[in-house]
Amino acid sequence: MTPPNVESSYRRCCADASFLARFRLALRAADGQVSGIFDPLSARQQEVMLDASIRAALDFSSGDPQGASRVSEMIHVHGRQGRVPVPPALYPVWLESLIQAVRETDPHWSDALERRWRAQLMPAVDMFVELYLSA
Ligand code: HEM
Repeated sequence: MTPPNVESSYRRCCADASFLARFRLALRAADGQVSGIFDPLSARQQEVMLDASIRAALDFSSGDPQGASRVSEMIHVHGRQGRVPVPPALYPVWLESLIQAVRETDPHWSDALERRWRAQLMPAVDMFVELYLSA
């Protein structure tokens, strides 16, 4: 049996028009600080940005150089002194809200797939938190 593949799961999610709205609403509902950060953007802009954040995190853990440069660029933007600071506590919230949205969207969801998603998202989450705290 082939191991569950996160890229395929992400493609199935993107094929469902409600996926990004699910992620956006789960994230906003999970922590009151999110509204303050998201409110300057329209719902559509929030969803484009959330899609870019998933892509960047997956590319980062795959070793893709573009993913690495996107993450280092955003670490400055989301850092303490950045244009859009994101406190470290919100990264686990981003992760759990994304897992929730994928679970609700992907018809092939399984425990093994969840473990793969978590493993591929964690490197970017850890990097954002670590660099925010050390800056
Ligand atoms: C590991 C997690 C995250 C990654 C990899 C990430 C990555 C990114 C990327 C790549 C962009 C640029 C989007 C674009 O060019 O369209 C972006 C923008 C943005 N992100 Fe994040 N992000 C993460 C977590 C978060 C969290 C937790 C929040 C807030 C709760 C957040 C809020 C924003 C906002 C508001 C923007 C738009 C910034 C602007 O005005 O240009 N991000 N993020």
